[in-house]
Amino acid sequence: MTALSDNPAALPAIVISSRAARRLAGGFMWVYSNEIERRDEQHEPAYWCRFVHEGRTVATGYFNRHSLIAGRAVTRGEVGSLNRLLDDRLLLAFSKRLPLENGRSARLVFSEADLLPGLVIDFFPPDAVLQSNTAGMDLMLTRLTERVPVLIEEVFQVPLRGLVLRCDSAVRRLEAVESFRKVVCGDSAVLARAEVYEDGVRYAADLVAGQKTGFFLDQRVNRMHFGSLVREVPSGRVLDLFCYSGGWGLRALKEGAAHATFVDESRDALALVERGLAANGIAPERADLRHGDVFDFLARCEDSYDAVVADPPAFVRSRKNLPQAIKAYQKLNRLAWRRLKPGGVLFACSCSYHLAESDFLNLLAEAVAKEHGLAHVIYRGGPAEDHPVLLSMPETSYLKCMGIRKLAAV
Ligand SMILES: C[S@@+](CC[C@H](N)C(=O)[O-])C[C@H]1O[C@@H](n2cnc3c(N)ncnc32)[C@H](O)[C@@H]1O
Repeated sequence: MTALSDNPAALPAIVISSRAARRLAGGFMWVYSNEIERRDEQHEPAYWCRFVHEGRTVATGYFNRHSLIAGRAVTRGEVGSLNRLLDDRLLLAFSKRLPLENGRSARLVFSEADLLPGLVIDFFPPDAVLQSNTAGMDLMLTRLTERVPVLIEEVFQVPLRGLVLRCDSAVRRLEAVESFRKVVCGDSAVLARAEVYEDGVRYAADLVAGQKTGFFLDQRVNRMHFGSLVREVPSGRVLDLFCYSGGWGLRALKEGAAHATFVDESRDALALVERGLAANGIAPERADLRHGDVFDFLARCEDSYDAVVADPPAFVRSRKNLPQAIKAYQKLNRLAWRRLKPGGVLFACSCSYHLAESDFLNLLAEAVAKEHGLAHVIYRGGPAEDHPVLLSMPETSYLKCMGIRKLAAV
């Protein structure tokens, strides 16, 4: 980690095309590599810079010569101080998460949507996880690790106990930067056995080595809604597919479901579910933990459930594999549908940005039709409000959650 000098006047200029300049002015934050018209070769592959068109600085941000998204704007025009800009952005993002109910976890910074491209900060009081996904944001890490604890305490009045750097996402490969994890402060053993509190449910989380930042905060509102439906069927049976730490199944058990089956291919994930059961005082007999592939499980399963959740990882990695991914979503939801009792609900999710909400609904409709079923759409949800969508950047919108109820045969 090298510190970045706070001298915007000295930032190199990169000349961009008129198309890129127009888009930056309209609130888009990326400059593609083929939109860069001129730049002086720098020693470093990634650096902070000014994006210039016709002699005027259109935006300030950073550049990476290895990435197809070569430029990311952080602000329009020039800035007086990069450090001040960073502080202002963090404070703006943090203040939008207020009031934060005592002890509840939240995403404090959501990358481009919070005008901090490449940066994610999740707050699991009293700990936080900071994820940098770009070479440009890596250049700010020294400053970030100093300022984030100070600003969190200032805004949320909670002294930060632990801070973990999770710079190990797969997207870093596109930026040609190495993956690493680092515990900046706090006890690694404690951080690996953290507890995330979400509206009355305690989840186990490994903030050092768990998936992504350690916990999937984006489904919070959808899980709450799911919980309220489960409450209507007090002794229901629930199937939580791709469960990770048991986000949906544990909520269901807390809301009165009699039993939940959790399925994941990761043993570490199921260990988190086990810890979650204990943390919530739920008797182990009320849960069945199944290790393995969800498709294999569904192919063999003969049980019926009052509620099924299918919350898989993104199947669409690029626009190119969209048709193949649509088939996978369809197969998954057909198999899941077969496990539903009449009157039961299926919560089908997709976190693939390339799959539009309308396409997702269409593929669900086709899946149900192929099963000769009928369903009501009873819920349409997106990410929780701490994962904002920037209108000028549709790329910041990714999560879809559809609740459909199986109608008795007619
Ligand atoms: C998006 S996360 C699920 C988040 C979770 N539902 C929650 O609310 O926290 C996807 C999970 O699917 C698991 N997974 C991925 N592919 C799988 C497969 N084919 N079969 C079983 N689990 C899989 C991963 O280990 C990961 O835990």
